[in-house]
Amino acid sequence: MITFDNQTMDSFFRWWVVHLWVEGVWELIMGGILSFLLIKLTGVDREVIEKWLYVIVGLTFLSGILGTGHHYYYIGVNKIWLIVGGIFSALEPLAFLAMALFAVNMYRKGEKKHPNKIALYWTLGSAIVSFVGAGLLGFAHTLPQTNIYTHGTLVTAMHGHLAFWGAYAMIVFAIISYALPNMTGRKLYESTRGRAAFWLSNIGMIGMTVAFGVAGVAQVYLERKMKMDFMLVQKEIEVHFVVLLICATLFATGITLFIIDFFKHGTPSDEALEIEK
Ligand SMILES: [Fe+2]
Repeated sequence: MITFDNQTMDSFFRWWVVHLWVEGVWELIMGGILSFLLIKLTGVDREVIEKWLYVIVGLTFLSGILGTGHHYYYIGVNKIWLIVGGIFSALEPLAFLAMALFAVNMYRKGEKKHPNKIALYWTLGSAIVSFVGAGLLGFAHTLPQTNIYTHGTLVTAMHGHLAFWGAYAMIVFAIISYALPNMTGRKLYESTRGRAAFWLSNIGMIGMTVAFGVAGVAQVYLERKMKMDFMLVQKEIEVHFVVLLICATLFATGITLFIIDFFKHGTPSDEALEIEK
C-alpha cells in the first residue's frame, strides 16, 4: 500500500489493493478451488468443468476491474465514477450467479457416489452463500442512488460478513474437508460433528447477517434521513447487537466443532492403523 497525505488519493489507491484482490484475484482462486473440488467430488468430466470456469473468469474480469468504481462514490473523486461504478458493479453479481448455478448443475449431473458428503456440503454451500452474500447483498447497496444513504453504515457490515464467509471461509473449509481425510486416512466425515459444524456456523452467520441488516436499515433511516446524532442512533439500535451476539455464539460453536475435527485428523487412530495394514 502506498500512503498519501491526501485522504481522497489514499482511498483511491487503497481500493486497487482491496477491491482488485477480492473481486479480481480471489474470485479466480475461488473459482479454481471450486472447479477442482467439483471434479473430485461429483465425477463430472474436467473438460465440462473447465469450459464453465472460463466463462466465470471472463465475467469476473469484465465486471470486477471497473467495478472498483463502487468504492469511489462520495469520497471526493470525479463524478464519472458514479456511472462507471454503477454499471460495472451491477454486473458483478452475474459472476457469482454463474458460479452458484455451475456448482449446483455439476452436482446434479454427477454420480453422487463420493463418500465425503461434508466436503460436498461446504463446496456447494460456498458457491450458494457467496452468491447471496457477495452477489445479492452487494448489489443491494452498489448503485449510487442507494449508496448515497448506506455508504459507511451497518448495511456494509451485513454484506461484508456473508460475502467473506461464503467466498473465503467456506471454500477454505471445503478444501480442508476434502484434503484432510486423504492426507491422514481418517474418515471423520462420517461423524455427526462435521454436519453440526456446517449447520451451526451457517445458521449463526445468516442470523448475524439479518441482525446487521435490520440494524443497518434502521441506522440509515434515523441517521441519514432523520438526521439524528450518530451516538444516539447507536443507542436506538442496541437491541440488534444482542441478537448479533446470540447468533455469533452459535457461529462460534460451529467453528469450534470444525477445529476439534481438524485436530482429531492429526491424532493417531485405529482407522489410520487399519489403512497401514
Ligand atoms: Fe468492491
